[in-house]
Amino acid sequence: MKLIGPFKQLITMDKLPLKGPLNDDLLEVIEHAGILINNSSIKAIGDYEFLKSKFDGQSLDLDFIDEELVAFPGFIDAHTHICWAGSRANDYAKRLSGKTYLEIANEGGGIWSTVQKTRELSQHELQTITEIRANQLLKDGVTTAEVKSGYGLSVESELKMLRAINNAFTEVDLIPTCLAAHICPKDFEGTTKEYLNQIRIELLPIVKTEKLSNRVDIFIEDSAFSVSDAREYLREVKDLGFDIVIHGDQFSVGGSQLAIEMNAVSVDHLEASDMAAIENIAHSNVIATVLPGASIGLGIPFAPARKLLDAGACLAIASDWNPGSAPNGDLFMQASILGVYEKLTIAETLAGITSRSAAALKLNDRGILKKGNIADIVAFKTNDYREVIYRQGKLKPEKVWKKGKAL
Ligand code: NIG
Ligand code: FE
Repeated sequence: MKLIGPFKQLITMDKLPLKGPLNDDLLEVIEHAGILINNSSIKAIGDYEFLKSKFDGQSLDLDFIDEELVAFPGFIDAHTHICWAGSRANDYAKRLSGKTYLEIANEGGGIWSTVQKTRELSQHELQTITEIRANQLLKDGVTTAEVKSGYGLSVESELKMLRAINNAFTEVDLIPTCLAAHICPKDFEGTTKEYLNQIRIELLPIVKTEKLSNRVDIFIEDSAFSVSDAREYLREVKDLGFDIVIHGDQFSVGGSQLAIEMNAVSVDHLEASDMAAIENIAHSNVIATVLPGASIGLGIPFAPARKLLDAGACLAIASDWNPGSAPNGDLFMQASILGVYEKLTIAETLAGITSRSAAALKLNDRGILKKGNIADIVAFKTNDYREVIYRQGKLKPEKVWKKGKAL
């Protein structure tokens, strides 16, 4: 048994509703807190001295903190593409001179250029790249991250990516997602429908048997896959037993409606969602995952996070870290910037990267500091939890514990 503390403040994120707006007074803030840990999970949370006194005389390891730290559940980044090769600084420079994301893709940049670079690397090289980026996430307080394939776009290269993600050696728990339906690869000889059939018939059964992922994602957009092609694909994918997530409503509306129809776990992006889409998402069980890093990377307005919450949606916030639309990768910084533009309460921003993003990954053992959950903790050097958001990502974690182990 180990006791970590005392923390100046501990923000548990416990006892909050999964959907809708959150007032800051709903946050459970425990002063002078301790966390009791058995193996990798939380045994008890409460007043430090009280927890310590319960073990008087018995053996108890102390992970003693002699500075003022404020602790939160480890952050959960529910949408990333951190397994990629090369750089798209050239795309970015073109964007700064006025070209759009879609124009740049048509001129030989975009997703396809990253696919070409990613295909050139070995599984081991991709694994190393993923580990380096995962460790960067960890420094920023992220203890669980979803990672998509989608830069292989052939049976063989998608398997290479998924195996690299699965084998990556890092303290961060990585949740792999198969995004073979990112775009139809330019070298595929056949129609978009035929490409989707090929990945469904030739790739997904291997993904299943090798247990490489239980989540399938698709990018619905004019430049990627249509709603009707996606519908046909996702029906079959669901029958294979995969959970579904969708890149939807990024530049045009449509993906969110299909996500609801397909009972997807989440629909991600939503920059283009109109009021009807917002209401429909809010009245469904689909989690709205917004990606401020993609708005910052593309220089476009943020997704309507405030409206989604007010309509009653479950709002998760993720980094979308990728070489094209979201090269920045700093989830906490992006979430706090989104918060000030969209007028999110501190509770809403924090829930978006902890309890609610855990739900977006269907993980019910984290995102909240409570008995039974794994002891993933991030702590900042301050005496007031609001300071962390106020510093807009500049204040970096002082300490991170993964499964109870100090890193
Ligand atoms: O989530 N929108 C589609 N996919 C990624 C971008 C990928 C890329 O540009 O490389 C996204 O923004
Ligand atoms: Fe994405």
